[in-house]
Amino acid sequence: MSKLFRTRRSVLYVPASNPKALAKVASLDADAIIFDLEDAVAPEVKDDAREALRVYFKSNPDSRAERIIRINHLASEWGSEDLLAARACKPNAILLPKVENLQDVTGVAEVLEETDASENVRLWAMIETTRGIINADEIAELGLRSAARLDCFVVGTNDIAKETGTVLQKGRQFFTPWLMQILLCAKAGQLDIIDGVYNDFKDLSGFASECAEAVKMGFDGKTLIHPSQIEPANEAFTPDDKSVADARSIVEAFSLSDNAGKGAISLNGRMVERMHLEVAQKLLARTKAIGQN
Ligand code: COA
Ligand code: MG
Repeated sequence: MSKLFRTRRSVLYVPASNPKALAKVASLDADAIIFDLEDAVAPEVKDDAREALRVYFKSNPDSRAERIIRINHLASEWGSEDLLAARACKPNAILLPKVENLQDVTGVAEVLEETDASENVRLWAMIETTRGIINADEIAELGLRSAARLDCFVVGTNDIAKETGTVLQKGRQFFTPWLMQILLCAKAGQLDIIDGVYNDFKDLSGFASECAEAVKMGFDGKTLIHPSQIEPANEAFTPDDKSVADARSIVEAFSLSDNAGKGAISLNGRMVERMHLEVAQKLLARTKAIGQN
């Protein structure tokens, strides 16, 4: 199956061990939900969380939002059972933590293949270790191989800060080279890429600034930890009225018979080329998809 276009502006982590949070999911306007079995779940309740997820998916077979299950690393004591349980839940994707090389992804893709998991079950990869950042290029190339099922990178900024000792501060000055490196690899592999979380969930203005930066950097969306972050993320990653109007005028200009066969035209004092037409068409398609969401 080829990759589907999905709107992934707001991607909320929901700890599978938190029944109140699970009960809230259906009322939330996030584009995607990551049901977490990994870092948000304490070791003592891993088994209960996995069971809660089975029950949840059984009693909630349908969802408007895309649904992803984050499992523990396969090398951990919970990884294999998590993978079996996640597969049985038939989510849209399984999110693999701490992916460090391409075998971390292809190994899981093979297990899914061998157990006849539907091709609709895709894989997402967390890039959140030093080795994962260094190997992001070869991992992202799997996006070009359909058997690998890989659709999306998620950046784990808290783990990167933990491993490197680099301070995650407002503006993300020291993180930006790594973020852009991971993003470049994702785009080369035709993957979507979702930015890391903003921990201070009460600071909505700081959150909005970080979203605005993430949009300019080229991220497709942001991972979230709290429902209050959904609306500002949706707003930030929805093209604004001016961008939509500009895109429409580019499409209209190229449809004029005078401009047929021209590679570059002048529009309101700006040079516009056919590559800009492609960008405009993409933006309009994205805006339309968001409207249908
Ligand atoms: N998903 C769904 N619902 C959530 C939620 C989430 N991530 N975070 C909070 N809520 C719910 C709460 O259960 C509460 O529900 P209620 O109105 O029925 O009581 C409501 O939203 C308000 O929550 P609030 O009291 O403001 O926060 P909290 O103290 O309950 O939780 C956190 C704060 C940070 C512990 C919680 O937001 C959380 O666990 N976030 C996800 C953490 C995570 O997944 N980390 C791993 C990836 S980085
Ligand atoms: Mg992590």
